Amino acid sequence: MCGIVAYVGNKNVWPLLVEGLKRLEYRGYDSAGLAVVTPGGLKIARTVGRVSVLEAHVEQAAAGAYDAHLGIAHTRWATHGPPTEANAHPHTGKTKSGHTIALVHNGIIENYATLKKYLTEKGHVFTSQTDTEVLAKLTAELYDGDLERAVQAALREVTGAYAIAVVCDNEPHTLVCARKGSPLIVGIAEKSYIVASDASAIVSHTTQVITLDDYQVVKLCAGPNDRLATGDAAGGPWAVEFKTTTIDNVRVTRDVQELEFDLQQIELGGYRHFMLKEIMEQPESIRNCLRGRIDLRESRVVLGGLGKYTRELVRASRFLLVGQGTAFHAARIGEYLMEDLAKIPARAEYASEFRYRNPIIEDGTVAVAVSQSGETADTLAALREAKERGALAVGAVNVVGSSIARETDAGVYLHVGPEIGVASTKAFVGQVAVLTLLALYIGKRRYLSDDVIRNYLAHLERLPEHVANVLKQSNHIRECVERHVHRENWLFLGRGYNYPVALEGALKLKEISYIHAEGMPAAEMKHGPIALIDEGMPVVFVAPQGSQYDKVMSNIEEVRARGGKVIAVATEGDTKIHKYADAVFTVPDVPEALQPLVTVIPLQLVAYHAAVLRGHDVDKPRNLAKSVTVE
Ligand code: F6R
Repeated sequence: MCGIVAYVGNKNVWPLLVEGLKRLEYRGYDSAGLAVVTPGGLKIARTVGRVSVLEAHVEQAAAGAYDAHLGIAHTRWATHGPPTEANAHPHTGKTKSGHTIALVHNGIIENYATLKKYLTEKGHVFTSQTDTEVLAKLTAELYDGDLERAVQAALREVTGAYAIAVVCDNEPHTLVCARKGSPLIVGIAEKSYIVASDASAIVSHTTQVITLDDYQVVKLCAGPNDRLATGDAAGGPWAVEFKTTTIDNVRVTRDVQELEFDLQQIELGGYRHFMLKEIMEQPESIRNCLRGRIDLRESRVVLGGLGKYTRELVRASRFLLVGQGTAFHAARIGEYLMEDLAKIPARAEYASEFRYRNPIIEDGTVAVAVSQSGETADTLAALREAKERGALAVGAVNVVGSSIARETDAGVYLHVGPEIGVASTKAFVGQVAVLTLLALYIGKRRYLSDDVIRNYLAHLERLPEHVANVLKQSNHIRECVERHVHRENWLFLGRGYNYPVALEGALKLKEISYIHAEGMPAAEMKHGPIALIDEGMPVVFVAPQGSQYDKVMSNIEEVRARGGKVIAVATEGDTKIHKYADAVFTVPDVPEALQPLVTVIPLQLVAYHAAVLRGHDVDKPRNLAKSVTVE
C-alpha cells in the first residue's frame, strides 16, 4: 500500500526521505516520488519502479540541487490511474499568489470527480489521473498565506480517507500533515520531526511519537529560531514546535507516546527474506504471544485487555468475527473455536461484505475484528458498523495503537512483533492463538472443566517446541515442492478446523508464487472441483488424526484414483497415510482445536519454497500491499 515519509529539521532531507521510503518498500508500491523545499524553490522527483530508481535520479542531479530541510516523499500503489511518473506523488497546485503546494496522500478521495470539475472551472490544469491531485489543487485554491489553514479548509470539503503531508514553497519551515482513516505517525526527534505512515520509517530516528485521530491536523515547524518567528530572517539556534488542531481549527492536545518497536526486530538477521525469517521465528513469536497469558496451575487464561468486559463476553449471545484475507481465515477458525470451546454461536464474515449488507446485530453480540495491521479499511469499517448497531467491539490486533486497536472496547494484542513480509505468516498463527485463548477464557466461565482447560493449556505451552519441530522439515518440503512447482493449478483440502487452514494454504501459494490454487472443504471436491483433477495435479490434504480423519482418507483415495498427486499434512506416527501420499509433512499430535496452529506451518513453507523456486521476489509480490487501507 502507499507509504508516506516527511521531514522537517536540521538535517539534509532527501537522504532521510529515501531511507524512509526504503523502509516502507515491504508494503508494496509501483512508483515513488519526493518534493523538497530548497532555498531556490520546490524541487520534485518522481519515478516509476523501485525507490532505488528515485534515489539514483536525485543523486544524478546537480550537486546540492535537492539539499533542503523540509520535504515529503511517497511510494504509490496504483488505484486511480496506472503506475506512471505523472500519476506518482507528490502532486502539486498553484496558489493564486503564484506559490506551489506539494502534497502526498494515502487513501482515497471519494468526491474527487466533483471537486475536479470545480477546480477545472477555476482554471487548474490537471496532469494526472489521480484523486490526490485534486486535493493538492484544492489546497492551493484555498491558500491565502497560511498552509495549515488551507489544508484544514480543503479537508473540510473532501469525503474519503486520507493521510497527507503537505508543503508550500512560501513556508520553508512548515510541514502540515493530517489524517482520517489512514495511519500517520509523527516522530519527535532532536531538532526535527519525521512523519510516516508506518512506524518502521521512524524508529531509526526516534521512539517518541504522537499519533493523530481522524480529522486532526498537525503543523510541524523547524528552523533557525528567529526564522520560525518571522518566517524569513536568518540565524539563531535551531528551534522546533508543533501544534495539533482539528480540520475545523479547534486546538487539540496530543500526548507524546513511546513507540514499542525495535529496529533490530525488523531487519533480516541473516535470512534471505522477511517471509522466511517470520516463518522461522514463529516459535519465538508464539512464545511472546502466549507470555503471561497461561496460568497452568490455576487452569486459567489471563487476558488483561478484556478485564471489565468479561461479563459481557461470557454472556454473549453471538460472536461475529470479521477480517480480510489471511485474517479472515483466522476468523473462520475463531468461529469453530467459539462454538466448540465457548459454546456460543459464532460466525466469521468478510468485513467488506458485512459492512454493506445491512446486518442484523442482536442484543449481546460481540464483534471481533481480526487484523495484523489494525488498519485494514474494510475491517475497521465493519467494526464501526457493528459497534454502531450495539455490538461490543473486541480486537485481535498486532499493531499496538493502530486504528482498530484504538476503536475497540477491549482487545487482545497478538504480540508477535512487526510483520514485514507481505504474505502474512506469524500474524496468522498469532491471530489463531489469541482466538484460542479467548475461547478458552470464555469457555472456562461457561462449560469447560478445569481438566479440559489444563489439557489445552499444557499443549499451548508446548506450541513453540511443536512448531520448531515442524520447521525442521523445511528442506524436505522444498524437495517435494521442487517436483510439483511447474504445475499451474493446485488444490488444498481440509475438514473441520483444517478447512480454513486449507483456505490459508491456497492463499499463501497464490499470492507469492502466482500459482493458481483453491482451498475448500475436502467433501466439497466431489461437488464439482473433482473435474479439475488430472494426471499429476498437486492436491494438498490437511489430514491430521482426528474425528474426520477417515473421511479425509476417502477423499485422498478419490484424488489418487484420478491421477492427482497427494501431498499430505499428517500427524507424526501416522504410517497409513504414507501409502497414499506422494509426500507427507508431519505435525505433532495435538487436540483438534489446536491443530491449525501446527498444520498451517508446512503450508507456509510450501508457498515460500514454491515462490523462491519460481524466482519471485517473495517480500515484494506483484500487485500486493502489506496493508490495504482503502476499500
Ligand atoms: C495475506 C495477507 C492479507 C492480509 C489482509 C488483512 O498474506 O497478508 O490477506 O491478511 O489484507 O490484513 P490485516 O491483518 O492487516 O487486517
